[in-house]
Amino acid sequence: MKKILITGAILLSACSLFAQPKLSKDNIDEVINAMTVEEKATILVGGGWGSMSAGSMTASSTVLVPGAAGTTRAIERLGIPQTVLADGPAGLRINPVRGDQTYYCTGFPVGTVMASMWNTDLVQELTSAMGNEVLEYGVDVILAPGMNLHRNPLCGRNFEYYSEDPFLTGKTAAAFINGIQSNGVGVSVKHYAVNNQEVNRMENDSRVSQRALRELYLKGFEIAVKEAQPWTVMSSYNKLNGEYTQQSYDLLTTILRDEWGFDGIVMTDWGTKEGTVQAVKAGNDLMEPGADIEIDRIVKAVKSGEITQEELDRNVRNMLEYIVTTPRFKGYKYSDKPDLKAHAELVRRSTPEGLVLLENNGVLPLKDVKTVALYGTGSYDFIAGGTGSGNVNKPYVRNVAEGLSVNGLEVNADIAKWYEQYIALEKTRLGNNGNGSGILLGDPVISEMEVGRSFIERMEPRTDIAIFTLSRNAGEGGDRYARNGDWYLTGQERELMQDLADVYHAAGKKFIVVLNIGGVIETESWKHIPDAILLAWTPGQEGGYAVADVLCGKANPSGKLPMTFPVNYFDIPSSTNFPYNNNNAQGNNRGRQSQRRNVDFTEYAEGIDVGYRYFQSEGVTVSYPFGYGKSYTTFEYSKPVVKAGADGFTATITVRNTGSVAGKEAVQVYVAAPAGGLEKPAYELKGFAKTKELAPGESQTLTVAVDAYTLASFNEAASAWETASGTYKVMFGASAADIRATAECKIKKAQAWEVHNVLAPAQPVK
Ligand code: BGC
Repeated sequence: MKKILITGAILLSACSLFAQPKLSKDNIDEVINAMTVEEKATILVGGGWGSMSAGSMTASSTVLVPGAAGTTRAIERLGIPQTVLADGPAGLRINPVRGDQTYYCTGFPVGTVMASMWNTDLVQELTSAMGNEVLEYGVDVILAPGMNLHRNPLCGRNFEYYSEDPFLTGKTAAAFINGIQSNGVGVSVKHYAVNNQEVNRMENDSRVSQRALRELYLKGFEIAVKEAQPWTVMSSYNKLNGEYTQQSYDLLTTILRDEWGFDGIVMTDWGTKEGTVQAVKAGNDLMEPGADIEIDRIVKAVKSGEITQEELDRNVRNMLEYIVTTPRFKGYKYSDKPDLKAHAELVRRSTPEGLVLLENNGVLPLKDVKTVALYGTGSYDFIAGGTGSGNVNKPYVRNVAEGLSVNGLEVNADIAKWYEQYIALEKTRLGNNGNGSGILLGDPVISEMEVGRSFIERMEPRTDIAIFTLSRNAGEGGDRYARNGDWYLTGQERELMQDLADVYHAAGKKFIVVLNIGGVIETESWKHIPDAILLAWTPGQEGGYAVADVLCGKANPSGKLPMTFPVNYFDIPSSTNFPYNNNNAQGNNRGRQSQRRNVDFTEYAEGIDVGYRYFQSEGVTVSYPFGYGKSYTTFEYSKPVVKAGADGFTATITVRNTGSVAGKEAVQVYVAAPAGGLEKPAYELKGFAKTKELAPGESQTLTVAVDAYTLASFNEAASAWETASGTYKVMFGASAADIRATAECKIKKAQAWEVHNVLAPAQPVK
């Protein structure tokens, strides 16, 4: 009897080894049954660093898409192809040149610019075009959107991310995902979760309360997953309350899949951590970029029973379900020729919606200006996007000088020549090659040259106006600094600004500042100096054109801030717990930037006091509030109507363009909860809508629905989302500090949604 059984078992495994079903969407179970443990482990591990090593189980070593960040592995006998994963989020990142062919990708506006648009339809239109490049360049998944919360303005990757507010973050991300995935390619929503700094990003432990976690750091992901069903999610490098996120069953399975209904794959961020086995068990389906040692670990753990057959097959099934939906599996014949021209036009046309007009004393749009004195290195060497994996290899970057010229203005040639020579020299001196000085770090921003007042005075009579573009950049691998030249202006920048203002004002002329920056800087001490400030961010390859289109009035800016600009860095509650590091990727210690050195963990002691939630509740003066942005026109808000329904309420308001040029207005719906329940911020963003372009005198009625769940706050004691009954104040704001209309709404029934009591910090966070 025993003998028969053993023979049977041998036969069975021989059968499965030699069974050769070819993968299709209808035979996934059959393929899983036919796979050996080694093959299963192989499917859970990416193709290796450099992305294109084919891996041990693949027969082919063809480089599918050079410059893509990673692949999954092929198993040819079962008809399982490699699939290709490449970076984003400001466009697709692949190598731009192969032989004599070019493969440039459009440099789209960075995440922060997309969030500044407050226009989910437009974000979706932009990412539909981006997704077309993903498809046509033979890539299956773009590693985007980046959607970590702007907990602190000095996070080096904030430009890739959206906002200090989780609702705006979630809605923008959902639009991003829908646009990309409408092409039949996938996204990887990253970095899940609580990855809000670059210092010690691989190891740092984010210690956060369950309430702040649920309401702030997970909320955006929750909205994106529920509303847009991303194909994949990327777990982050860091720990969350003591456990690596990539190894956290509660984060990757209990919350992501069981509570939110995610049914795609989870992949790790790029690195080979110990703990592959825990990652597999937690529901991390794919190790990226993948190393053979991870295959060995999985095989061993399956053989020892540490990974159960069920766990292994669960992840393998997720992977195969993903693979059969990819264009690579379907044999899509990509062209390598997306319509870059059409996409560039779309980007140029759309970018002004993400540009934020901070100040304008009537000088913009420019009138009666023929010649421009254009200062600042960014005017000639414009920064399109941040550095690191989010840096797209774009065909070109339009600078402000080019933009002004195509708008018919003359840029003073002497000033231009001086800057161009200086920039060229500095690039040679710094060894800038346009591709960054390492995988992560980009080229340093060239510091301002010494211009001198007498030069400005000599140039003034030959020019009608002065414009100064101020530049900053940051990126993956390092956080920014609360010091001169980053958060603060340098002495030189300040002097140049003052000289330009003095000389041009004395001559009865105007002076404008363009901010070509990736994140928040200090503005309070100098914002009174220029006649206008246009916050251009780092808005992609058409940046200089878009800036000039706005300055010249071809486009009316309608961006609004997705974060607060504080008066002082140290006004920000998290500033006391945002670490600095002597040895981070940017090298030496550049001085004190918070009260706390890096200690391998970050206490999110401010809880939910992030951004306007804190500033508005505590009445702390800010330089520019969340949601703020001017227009060339003015808008009037009607008396609103708010109607409670079976589930939450609908808020309706009519916006009228009362000015003399066409424009769009983003209306923000803030809600103050009734007293008595959980303690809450003064009010929170619960909805927004942007008008179409309204002609002067034209109006539009906007309706925003807010359901009861969106109104809920997280009660740690009950491990439940709770919406109190009572009277809610519904506020319609042009910004968080500019509430134009208010209505009340009675929610009759209190509601609660109990969730798993997971991911609590070991000790109260302080
Ligand atoms: C980054 C990810 C990126 C990946 C692949 C990692 O270092 O954190 O955002 O997608 O590399 O390039």
